[in-house]
Amino acid sequence: MYLTKEEEKILAGEEGETLQKAMGILAALGDIYEADSLIPIRSAQISGVSYKTIGDAGLEWISDLKGTVKVPSVLNPAGMDTENWERLKIDPHFAAKQIEIMDVFRSLGIRPQCTCTPYYLKGFDISFGDHLAWGESSAVSFANSVLGARTNREGGPSAISAALIGKTPDYGLHLAENRKPTVVIRTEMSLSGSDFGALGYLAGKIAGSGIPYFEMTDKGKTEAVVPKRDELKALGAAMAASGAVALYHIKGVTPEACRKDFEAPSGDREAETVTIERKDLDGVYESAFTEAGESVPTDLVTVGCPHCSAEELREIASLLEGKTVVKEFWIFTSREVAGDNPDLVGKIEASGAKVVCDTCMVVSPAADRFSCVRVNSGKAYAYVPGMCGAGAVFGTLRSCVDDATGKR
Ligand code: F3S
Repeated sequence: MYLTKEEEKILAGEEGETLQKAMGILAALGDIYEADSLIPIRSAQISGVSYKTIGDAGLEWISDLKGTVKVPSVLNPAGMDTENWERLKIDPHFAAKQIEIMDVFRSLGIRPQCTCTPYYLKGFDISFGDHLAWGESSAVSFANSVLGARTNREGGPSAISAALIGKTPDYGLHLAENRKPTVVIRTEMSLSGSDFGALGYLAGKIAGSGIPYFEMTDKGKTEAVVPKRDELKALGAAMAASGAVALYHIKGVTPEACRKDFEAPSGDREAETVTIERKDLDGVYESAFTEAGESVPTDLVTVGCPHCSAEELREIASLLEGKTVVKEFWIFTSREVAGDNPDLVGKIEASGAKVVCDTCMVVSPAADRFSCVRVNSGKAYAYVPGMCGAGAVFGTLRSCVDDATGKR
């Protein structure tokens, strides 16, 4: 990969050990993936924040870093609510380590916002065509697909390196030729809410690491189904978990698919075409029932994977109005969204449910003591069994509220 004179000097260590290490990582990645050069990035989102995932080795690695990031940078969810960790019974040793990790990131000038929905944060604007270095898979999918920005899925070290240098190697999804659809997925049904999580769960298995192009029409109609932003978020998150999808397009909906120069595959001739039907989605919802048709018992209910928007908090608050929870019910969101919506948080918590910031049940050890979790997220449904050692059942948001309040 070509390096400018200034980049060569950094690589030679003329600007200190940290930048030398960072440039070394970016140069090695650029060489492996045959990038021509480094390109400037607008922002970074750094994954590998939870002590549960990076452990002592990761903490030691980041502790050696010095300096200040060159672009606005935030963090992936951490292993706990950093201001209220006792509430989910986090072990004090784990908490101390997590606080150490947060202190290191803060010292590098990284905003201590730990969220998989950085696109909701104020002062973290993204425009079509921006190059980014983001790490969390659902955020990467949203940035590429819904915002039309360009980012590969960065690992922790490469995202920190990109943040410190302010650049990333120009390969993968930064290049237009790598953003073309590889598989067509057709649906002919009305879809809403958690249906998009179920659809993403199935589509991710079909697409693998490819790029799906959705043609979504309502049953018996010709008009396209137009998902809301939170539904697009859920769709992408699920595909990134059951597959490794980092970019998708929807005919007539997502920004790249709406451009004149977009090359849509013409169906069966140019790309594999798969149809997903309502009965396929029903199969995902059936995870919540035994063979005898009874509800699978759960001891924890979680929503907010990816982290809730203000609109989702509003919907949850309205569904919980006048109700009391009978089991643990956790709602995950970012500290900023929670802080901007104290009334909604108050209404939700009046039921006994907990609005939890900075973390989620997958990257936190908090859910490890439960045996079965009800979720409304295709990503959580895919990850909870492997990451938390608990069973998972999938349902609508309403079913989550009903379960938490003892109505099922
Ligand atoms: Fe976010 Fe955790 Fe889900 S990081 S996307 S809430 S698994």
